[in-house]
Amino acid sequence: MQTLIINIKELLQVRDNPIDKVSGAEMAILPKIDNAFLLIEDNLIADFGSMANCPTIKADQTIDATGKTVLPTWCDSHTHIVYAGNRIQEFVDRINGLSYEEIANRGGGILNSAKKLNETNEEDIYNQSKVRLEEIMQQGTGAVEIKSGYGLTVDGELKMLRVIRKLAANYPIKIKATFLGAHAFPTEYKENHAAYIDLIINEMLPKISEGKLADYIDTFLETGYFSVQETEKIMEAGKKYGLIPKIHVNQFTAINGIKACVKYEALSVDHLEIVTDEDIEDLKGSKTMPVALPSCSYFISIPYTPARKMMAAGLPLALATDYNPGTTPSGNMNFVVATACIKMKMTPEEAINAATINGAYAMGISQTHGSITKGKSANIIITKPLTTYYEMAYSFTSNLIETVFIEGKAI
Ligand code: NIG
Ligand code: FE
Repeated sequence: MQTLIINIKELLQVRDNPIDKVSGAEMAILPKIDNAFLLIEDNLIADFGSMANCPTIKADQTIDATGKTVLPTWCDSHTHIVYAGNRIQEFVDRINGLSYEEIANRGGGILNSAKKLNETNEEDIYNQSKVRLEEIMQQGTGAVEIKSGYGLTVDGELKMLRVIRKLAANYPIKIKATFLGAHAFPTEYKENHAAYIDLIINEMLPKISEGKLADYIDTFLETGYFSVQETEKIMEAGKKYGLIPKIHVNQFTAINGIKACVKYEALSVDHLEIVTDEDIEDLKGSKTMPVALPSCSYFISIPYTPARKMMAAGLPLALATDYNPGTTPSGNMNFVVATACIKMKMTPEEAINAATINGAYAMGISQTHGSITKGKSANIIITKPLTTYYEMAYSFTSNLIETVFIEGKAI
């Protein structure tokens, strides 16, 4: 099956030679071809270039993209899409003056979602989660990482990871699974952290590994949650099962967690609303991708990741949604890109690089996703007619997507 897209006004993120990520000043460069064509064969990108070199073939399907922009689908490397119910009451409580911390201390927050998750059967959780997955695909996401972490029991964590696996089997979108048993301490372990960490290491991890249910391991490394030492213990245990760390860190406080994550060769460190000069030094020269989650900053009114400072230090940066019921009930990567431009002062080029190739890196899939490169998955967004792709950040509430292709098929 061949699909030929012709007369593309702007074809973005074209990379002849595969790259795994872009860092520092390179992030400002988004290679593009004006008046371009793109050829899809089955599920892969077969060819692309200027219309002057468009092949004269009789494709099964030809799409005229006059006036439109084509770019790779978004790579959302940090979500908690699998959950039960919602936390609308906490949202209203926050409007009325309570902080995220105060709500968590009253038994709300993550523990509230864990209670709902454990009371909901697997099929129901799957049905609730697939609606979110279908929604983000329509919004242009073609690859996504999904975490467990609302079970906090052996059964609950396994149930979540099985739902993630079933979503991956039933939908064309690329899905990576992360085990986040260390998301919060259940109430009964509040005074006995060691016992919960034992449960994670000695009961959850062996079962997850046996069922091949996760690609990565995560902890919420934060004051009041998992300490640096506790996180190191969990990263160490995960590595024995081949699970590479992707860690929640520096959301509310900087406690030298990034140094530990880099030491354990984490694939990514995510949140980074509070970043010190020392954290930036620790990331320099590492293979760890910093990931910013601007929709979370927006929704719970906390600082935005200091993107300009980090890029000026030569670091790469990825953007993701953090879609979850507590701090970010939104999986819209278009909003993430626009908000990164508006609030973090990233240029559209930097934001699109961060939401495509660098997001792919933060999921370990930059060899197959994140750019328009021959042989990569045919995951593309065709926009409505645009003045320029800058409109994607400028018209920040308009739906500018016309068609999304995932694995070569329009969804
Ligand atoms: O990434 N910070 C930790 N975890 C989630 C929020 C979890 C929740 O409140 O349900 C986050 O923001
Ligand atoms: Fe998160």
